[in-house]
Amino acid sequence: MNKVAIVTGATGQDGSYLSELLLEEGYTVIALRRRSSSEKGLERIQHLLNNDNFKLVEADITDSGCVNNLIQEYKPSEIYNLAAQSHVGTSFKQPSYTSQVNLQGPINFLEAIRLLSPSTKFYQASTSEMFGKNYEQMGDTKYQRETTAFVPQSPYAVAKLAAHEMVRIYRDSYGLFACCGILFNHESERRGENFVTRKITKWIGNFQNWLNSNNLDIRYVSANSESILFVSGVQESFPKLRLGNLDAHRDWGHAQDYVEAMYMMLQQDSPEDYVIATSETHSVREFLTEAFNEIGITNFEPYVVIDPEFYRPCEVDWLLGHTGKARDQLGWRPKVSFQELVQRMVRSDIDASRKEKLERSSIQELEETS
Ligand code: NAP
Ligand code: GDD
Repeated sequence: MNKVAIVTGATGQDGSYLSELLLEEGYTVIALRRRSSSEKGLERIQHLLNNDNFKLVEADITDSGCVNNLIQEYKPSEIYNLAAQSHVGTSFKQPSYTSQVNLQGPINFLEAIRLLSPSTKFYQASTSEMFGKNYEQMGDTKYQRETTAFVPQSPYAVAKLAAHEMVRIYRDSYGLFACCGILFNHESERRGENFVTRKITKWIGNFQNWLNSNNLDIRYVSANSESILFVSGVQESFPKLRLGNLDAHRDWGHAQDYVEAMYMMLQQDSPEDYVIATSETHSVREFLTEAFNEIGITNFEPYVVIDPEFYRPCEVDWLLGHTGKARDQLGWRPKVSFQELVQRMVRSDIDASRKEKLERSSIQELEETS
């Protein structure tokens, strides 16, 4: 009999990679998906839908009755709670909703496990955002580790921190195998398009294809002072990339490496929380430089507009994870470097944009000939 794992947020970036990993490990994966009015939103797991061990189940983690029924029905060995309103900026505009999903959701699972299936192991997706403005310092190096105090700076981080503490309380009070991965930023070709890394690489993908389809050489492209780029002789213009704070530093890794750490945490003898990171930090500005370099542009500034709309009321300036505990106890190490991460994301978005354009033109051709 296969082990059964429930993965919430299976349609998201991490959920899709984790589902792949668990299937490879021989699990039956119960992949939760909230109701949607369309079939869109399954893109990241499309390739898993025909796998007999992958079962897509409609569920909303804010509904305790629904969560109870799931635990009752599947009695899973492991639950990975990845579902969240995961956008920090959005959490300032939708604080109550963010709290419902990010805090009430995990509570529903913890209660259901306690009452109905106490041997189920539980993973909670905690976050480096919980550290907020706080860090420790050794020499010139500023970093965060498991014991660094949390000083959250957004409704998102507050809800995640409350959930983090709730996991500790259920672990200590009821002896549940419940633990949290304090994951620093992790990105990928499947990253949501409104996070800064993917926003940048998607723009670059579309821009490169705009250049290609107009037979334009980057040396002859110029920008006006407003928000568009234009080239003499070419009527079409291309909107500049609009971003907020470029000075924030993030410790960016690849999501595929990070889901391995989640899995490893639930295979330990006892439940503990771990910081998962690359231990290298870069500013948004550095990410931009690296990404534009991929298409031969050494100075991104003419292509970017700073737009106050993308600033946050409160910012987290510096994240750099100290991963001694994960390295020593789990034997976990990241494999994908910052440079490789950026390269993979840019190349994937150039490819995706080219395919999208080809699809659009073949549909147009079909419409014209029919
Ligand atoms: P993501 O791509 O935004 O995925 C979030 C998932 O949650 C989606 O599948 C989403 O469904 C689902 N969801 C949202 N509300 C739900 C609800 N009420 N009921 C059921 N499902 C719901 O996020 P991610 O980057 O994979 O991150 C995974 C988890 O790790 C999140 O909890 C996030 O907060 C946390 N985290 C992420 C990072 C990072 O850098 N990526 C770092 C630290 C912690 P739809 O597809 O329908 O939207
Ligand atoms: N999203 C976004 N859009 N961020 C921008 C932009 C923009 O146009 N311009 C600048 N930024 C800055 C943000 O202000 C922030 O300092 C940084 O880029 C990273 O923003 P995001 O990519 O949205 O990620 P995040 O760090 O706020 O949150 C992500 O990482 C957390 C872990 O530290 C999310 O994945 C969270 O769910 C996760 O917990």
